[in-house]
Amino acid sequence: MRAVVMKRYGGPEVLKVEDVPEPGVEPEHRRIEVTRSGVNFADLLVREDDYLTSVPLPFVPGNEVVGRSDGERVAALMRGGGYAQVSRARLATTFPVPDDIDDETALALTLQGQSAWHLLHTVLRVRSGETVIVPAAAGGVGSLAVQLAKRAGARVVAMAGTPEKRAFAAELGADAVVDSRSGTLADDLAEAADGGADAALEMTGGDTFRATMDALAPLGRLAVYGGAATMETTIDTRELMSTGKSVQGFWLPLLYDNRHTLTEAAHDLFAAVRSGELRVPPVTVYPLTEAARAQEDLRARRTVGKVALDPGR
Ligand SMILES: NC(=O)c1ccc[n+]([C@@H]2O[C@H](COP(=O)([O-])OP(=O)(O)OC[C@H]3O[C@@H](n4cnc5c(N)ncnc54)[C@H](OP(=O)(O)O)[C@@H]3O)[C@@H](O)[C@H]2O)c1
Repeated sequence: MRAVVMKRYGGPEVLKVEDVPEPGVEPEHRRIEVTRSGVNFADLLVREDDYLTSVPLPFVPGNEVVGRSDGERVAALMRGGGYAQVSRARLATTFPVPDDIDDETALALTLQGQSAWHLLHTVLRVRSGETVIVPAAAGGVGSLAVQLAKRAGARVVAMAGTPEKRAFAAELGADAVVDSRSGTLADDLAEAADGGADAALEMTGGDTFRATMDALAPLGRLAVYGGAATMETTIDTRELMSTGKSVQGFWLPLLYDNRHTLTEAAHDLFAAVRSGELRVPPVTVYPLTEAARAQEDLRARRTVGKVALDPGR
């Protein structure tokens, strides 16, 4: 089968399509014939060896797929092995896809949908009437988080890096939209949050983390789930005490042994699509042979919504 293989860490040039043996499938796994592989921001960090942990080389990147398994349409989460024609996933993280949900919608709702859902409902426990800050609001996680926060009754202050992305975030329902590249981000966010936000998503680090913390009201909650600009961000615990603000981390793989909570989110995400409360933005599909270009576009902040690979091309 064909797969993208990374034999060393580095730039996009280290991603090569090769013929490799299919992965071994243990009894606790399902073999999946992949129709779409998800491309996620963490894939770039893994490639650059700048993620939470290193991976063993050679490595097939990719942490989510949608495809066919024993005649059933499934979506699955895994830690590596997704950029391939055949993948494997644990039974615990493989889910049937309902007939009325197409493959690309299911893919968008898998890693990024689960992340947006659990950030808002499991970590931040967003309530109706609260103000929530959502970064990269036109991106994979962000475009879903804007809509899920609105569905929970929150007021959404979104951030996005271009006028087109900001217009898209407003179309998705954001009540205020701020330029994430602004030199006055702290002031812009504070003004848009008008009296302070109750909760915030934070995936960038550095100055953006600082500006987001400052835009929180006393006792506000912030969920850290990435470090797109820098992983080196520190906080003085005396600030947490004097403001009552809280910072909680989130890493989706922590839930991979908890099938119940993943299933609950999947059902709710599918229901939100069915009811028209959640719109999955168009999915941009690259051939497997262009995985490097897909990752470069994601890195350069050129993408909107979900980025995927077609292993058949
Ligand atoms: N912890 C977890 O379990 C988990 C799970 C899923 C995703 N994540 C994190 O969530 C974030 C979004 O992931 P995604 O896959 O949905 O990606 P995405 O939002 O589709 O794309 C990344 C977006 O981040 C924004 N950004 C801000 N600063 C950036 C920088 N220095 N470099 C590149 N992009 C920057 C850009 O939007 P603007 O141009 O609009 O600012 C860019 O389009 C990432 O940080 C990712 O690591 C974490």
